[in-house]
Amino acid sequence: MTPDLFAAEPTPAERAAELRAQLHHHAHRYYVLDAPEIPDAEYDRLFQALQAIEAAHPELLTTDSPTQRVGGKILDGLVPVRHAVPMLSIQTETDTTAGGAEAFDARVRRELGLAETDPAVEYAAELKFDGLAINLRYEHGVLVQAATRGDGETGEDVTQNIRTIGQIPLRLNGEAPAVIEVRGEVYMRRDDFEKLNERQREKGEKTYINPRNTAAGAVRQLDPAITAQRPLSFFAYGLGEVRGWTLPDTHSGLLDALAAFGLPVCVDRCVAQGAAGLVAFHAQIAAKRDALPFDIDGVVYKVNSLALQRELGFKTREPRWAVAHKYPAQEQLTTVLAIDVQVGRTGKLTPVAKLAPVFVGNVTVTNATLHNENEARRKDVRVGDTVIVRRAGDVIPEVVAVLPEKRPEGATVFTMPHTCPVCGSAAVREEGEVDHRCTGGLFCGAQRKQAILHYAQRRAVDIEGLGDKLVEQLVDADVVKTLPDLYRMGLMALANLDRMAEKSAQNVLDALEKSKHTTLPRFLFGLGIRHVGEATAKDLARHFGSLDAIMDASEEQLLEVNDVGPTVAQSLRTFFDQPHNREVVEQLRACGVHWEEGAPAERAAQPLAGKTFVLTGTFPKLKREEAKEMLEAAGAKVAGSVSKKTDYVVAGEEAGSKLDKARELGVAVLDETGMLALLSTA
Ligand code: IVH
Repeated sequence: MTPDLFAAEPTPAERAAELRAQLHHHAHRYYVLDAPEIPDAEYDRLFQALQAIEAAHPELLTTDSPTQRVGGKILDGLVPVRHAVPMLSIQTETDTTAGGAEAFDARVRRELGLAETDPAVEYAAELKFDGLAINLRYEHGVLVQAATRGDGETGEDVTQNIRTIGQIPLRLNGEAPAVIEVRGEVYMRRDDFEKLNERQREKGEKTYINPRNTAAGAVRQLDPAITAQRPLSFFAYGLGEVRGWTLPDTHSGLLDALAAFGLPVCVDRCVAQGAAGLVAFHAQIAAKRDALPFDIDGVVYKVNSLALQRELGFKTREPRWAVAHKYPAQEQLTTVLAIDVQVGRTGKLTPVAKLAPVFVGNVTVTNATLHNENEARRKDVRVGDTVIVRRAGDVIPEVVAVLPEKRPEGATVFTMPHTCPVCGSAAVREEGEVDHRCTGGLFCGAQRKQAILHYAQRRAVDIEGLGDKLVEQLVDADVVKTLPDLYRMGLMALANLDRMAEKSAQNVLDALEKSKHTTLPRFLFGLGIRHVGEATAKDLARHFGSLDAIMDASEEQLLEVNDVGPTVAQSLRTFFDQPHNREVVEQLRACGVHWEEGAPAERAAQPLAGKTFVLTGTFPKLKREEAKEMLEAAGAKVAGSVSKKTDYVVAGEEAGSKLDKARELGVAVLDETGMLALLSTA
């Protein structure tokens, strides 16, 4: 054997180191640069390979291993950490106009003893991130500790939690100093925050107030598993203790160096000359503030030269070389004047707080969504309340919290109306849903456009040429209010619309005429009844034969239809119980809309109705599909997986996990013969 062959086989330690280096590299590409080089699945494969080695050789585990990002232990409390270099705060310039930048530059020049004729001072201008300040301590390139700012002298150890943040490197790239403490801000992106709240809303749980509080809460969690589920991000902006490293000459150079170490540094920064440069940066960022993916509450100016920074020094707890220049706040207090309920295009009812006008996030806000009844109740927003309103980015303004101590006496709890505020039809909230909906789909003014488009679509009554734009025009011009109006409008009304030639108007009329001859399933589907899709419409038509029979069927009778469950049955019943909806149907028929009707379908005997079967393995005689058809013809449902609700599992040759699951749950198991016997005796 040649020595080369020995060399070709890496030891577990070498393999682990190699995998870690690869994972560090790809995590940086993915989390920091947002430019992955390999698919997620490949990353997962490398990750699992490393996990396997570490499981087999626990002695090879290191604190900077990417596998250590999750799974820290639950703590009793956070442990205090004394900062090697205090974490200071910066003076805030509250004048949000250009004056703020000019005042700072004037102070710096005075303290440096510069004359008016001296050249402009150079600054590094960056964003003031709205999150939580963190000190990351790297020793020989490895992240050894992360701490919050606390009172500036002593913070709290949050190392386990910070390790879960993918953007924060566990090991620095390149030649790392003996000690380098990197300071920066942990924050939550606005879209991540919205998604988190959307999930909370779906689960019917409490929503979070704003990204900053949510990020701060997540970092100070005692259970790192919870932190790991919160989508946190990080930007580096400064230094703490440093040993064994020659600092760059400027702050901008320092940020470049931090980026080269693999730390996330925000690209929205610049080197600015004098007050004019700062003013320009302040204005430029103000213009793009809403478009940034995260919240900022201002910008920060720092004297760029580190030598000049040292010369300027500190005034008690604040550096003289830096200042925060604010923007108008994104949260404000105001009062609730009323709570209105708005109806969307699809009939969804949304409670909206009418507010005393307030300037927030750079616009005057008078409305804020309360989303739905649950949320309005949970926040307990009442007319007369003093509330915190938040408007950040392009997100719709929101009431995030109520100040209960300011509530006027006699303020009453908000309840959703039982009727639609637009058309008066019943408003219902279906089981398991968070939203109330108007049930007057065909008649409701708010739902007109949607109802017409749904009716006219190809899969429904199919009115060629009646698309988005035309419907928009017809409804806005009040030519069409409800579906029957479509058949009543004349050539003139159509031709009078903007950009409508007489010829195309005639084409639309022809298409309308043609659409009058339709089929019952298409017409039924076209009515836009909630939960009644094409397939259900077909089933209903087949089962009942005529529209009148469907409109008059009781919930029980509706439930007899294949695939119609309680939700669909209830939805049909509510829809046809609205006199306005029925009136529209009658008018459509009076306009000449017609179809063939038949007798109700002969009801085959359905001895296995209500029983659920699961088929697994290969059967001796029947193909799987044939067995399925036979069972379905007898009224049974054939499902894909075994659960407690399964009545029978029919197992053939080489039945696998489904059979095991059936045994585990105590579900009856048949073979093909057993199934055929059941079908013949049933
Ligand atoms: S520099 C000695 N730069 O604002 C200067 N701070 O009062 C130390 N912050 O809680 C701070 N963005 O967390 C600096 N680009 C930035 C910042 C920033 C946000 C926060 C920081 C601190 C507060 C300063």
